[in-house]
Amino acid sequence: MHQDCERILLTEEQLDGRITEVARAIDERYRGKFPLAIGILKGSIVFFSDLIRRLSIPVELDFMAVSSYGNGAVSSGKLRIKKDIDRDVAGRDVIVVEDIIDSGFTLANLKALLSERGAGSVAIVTLLNKKGRREYDIVPDYNCFDIENEFVVGYGLDYNERYRNLPYIGVLKREIYNG
Ligand code: IMP
Ligand code: MG
Repeated sequence: MHQDCERILLTEEQLDGRITEVARAIDERYRGKFPLAIGILKGSIVFFSDLIRRLSIPVELDFMAVSSYGNGAVSSGKLRIKKDIDRDVAGRDVIVVEDIIDSGFTLANLKALLSERGAGSVAIVTLLNKKGRREYDIVPDYNCFDIENEFVVGYGLDYNERYRNLPYIGVLKREIYNG
């Protein structure tokens, strides 16, 4: 385990097993369709790539980069679109793939934006869900794991752009983000 982690919250095996289950559920819902999966950069990339490889339905891929957090562990309270999707979402079945829902700010805003642009449907898939932190009304259609209010890293998730490449989800030691 990385020295900056206090403990491993989710192992590679746990991630693998649960993501396979969620992929099966997505296959069911979109059978006969060609949804557009939008990965939210950068945190979702590892989850995104594992999830799409377990889908048997055809799926189109696109990416969006938004930020509600600056470089730290506290929300800045404003959604900024840093990179937009290339595809037109009008009439499309959109699947938004996110790493974690915390306050819900990012996805509440994103879902509203995609609906405004005329998406036929918008489903939210998240790897992690910090239910206890919710401030905005957003419920994921697919959630892999509910977690407590702890700052986690790895499997795409970062703290100051570090730890994204860890193959597991670990709880970051408080001393790392408390200075
Ligand atoms: P929300 O808009 O408050 O729901 O925040 C969602 C975003 O906050 C995620 O996409 C992450 O980038 C970031 N975030 C929230 N909690 C964590 C965490 O525990 N570790 C790493 N990033 C987090
Ligand atoms: Mg993120």
